[in-house]
Amino acid sequence: MKTILILGAGKEQVNAIDRAKEKGIRTVVFDMNPEADGASHADEFYPVSTRDVEAITSFVQEYKKKIDGVMTIASDIPHCVSAAAEILRVPHIPRAVAEVCVNKLEMKEVLQKGGVNVPAFVEVSSLEDLTAFIDRVGYPVVLKPIDNSGARGISRLTERSDLKEALAYAQKHAFSGRCIAEKYIDGLQISTEGLMYKDTFYCTGFADRNYVRVTDESTHLVEDGGDIPTVLPDDKKRLVEEHFEKAVRALGIDWGPAKCDLILGTDGKVYIIEIAARLSGGNFCYDKVPWSTGVDIVDILIDMAVGNDVDPQRFVPTKHMATSQRYFFPPPGTVTDILGVDEALKLPHIKKIDIWVKKGDIVPPAINHPSRIGYVIALTDTLDEAVSAAEKAVNTIRFVIS
Ligand SMILES: Nc1ncnc2c1ncn2[C@@H]1O[C@H](COP(=O)(O)OP(=O)(O)OP(=O)(O)O)[C@@H](O)[C@H]1O
Ligand SMILES: [Mg+2]
Repeated sequence: MKTILILGAGKEQVNAIDRAKEKGIRTVVFDMNPEADGASHADEFYPVSTRDVEAITSFVQEYKKKIDGVMTIASDIPHCVSAAAEILRVPHIPRAVAEVCVNKLEMKEVLQKGGVNVPAFVEVSSLEDLTAFIDRVGYPVVLKPIDNSGARGISRLTERSDLKEALAYAQKHAFSGRCIAEKYIDGLQISTEGLMYKDTFYCTGFADRNYVRVTDESTHLVEDGGDIPTVLPDDKKRLVEEHFEKAVRALGIDWGPAKCDLILGTDGKVYIIEIAARLSGGNFCYDKVPWSTGVDIVDILIDMAVGNDVDPQRFVPTKHMATSQRYFFPPPGTVTDILGVDEALKLPHIKKIDIWVKKGDIVPPAINHPSRIGYVIALTDTLDEAVSAAEKAVNTIRFVIS
């Protein structure tokens, strides 16, 4: 029996734990929170922080039994996965590549050197740096921490913004204190995902992200779900996939997963926003993509991680269904009731509803992705039907807030 080390036992990683077990692979799982959803699913659970490289590496060094592979889902810790895998001598991307992928500034520099189109960017350490950049490229500009995720600390800046406040906000959310400013690119926001296997890159996930909540007035870039399939015609889709693969190769991701946020600009150019060297979160890799295409990249990555051979046929879609995901955005406050969930579940095409606040919990202001409180996913034959089904379900559920 093979053994896999899974970093993280949260909501997003449960799927990896369960899938590995179903495949007859023993699971050793770390999470700093012993109460995490997946802790009780694991064959062996240890309360180790998935960001503590030293604790992870000393654990695997001292562990008496064999570990055949390491992986995570959604958590932006490819450097921790690589550090453990390096010691275990199991498949992984070079640690230096993983380190670049968790640094938005270095990543953009490597991409640019590799001839990949990225938005104009600069490191910002002071208000002077920020205003000089804005003078050069013009508004709007996005300011972000170089090393966080979930849109934490990110602001979209316009003439109306308080630049000092935005810089303090970004710096506060940067583990390193460092920030990057980028030209804001107008266009279609897209999520793509794929796997590098034996030097062939397979793009397995392609979704249009829904940013209707972001208007000219918005400071925060909060995504409200997304849709599969894309509205793009085949030639544009191919163009995006070519840029994605070029970016993956430029970064040196020579094995395993890559998740890319990119924009097809109104100028017709593809702009790479970032590539994460891990599987996606937000239901993309373990729900929406397998439901709509039949391609199950969690299953494939588990096999790759423990060194099993993968039949390339597994990357080929076996179906063409549509999914649409939409989140709930009630006003901030205390939840006193949640109404209409049973009714929404009975609506046509509703595949999944998840809400992680309950009566008495606080709904925070919707300023980043972790502040979202739940979603619905619709699955059906056509994109339009999926979108209206998801929107109808969202509107059927009412959060009573005081
Ligand atoms: N330069 C830009 N132009 C337009 N939109 C942008 C730009 N930079 C970021 N965004 C939007 O904001 C989102 C969050 O930015 P980014 O991916 O850099 O931050 P993050 O904290 O890693 O967020 P996440 O974990 O959700 O990917 C992007 O996915 C993209 O939709
Ligand atoms: Mg991102």
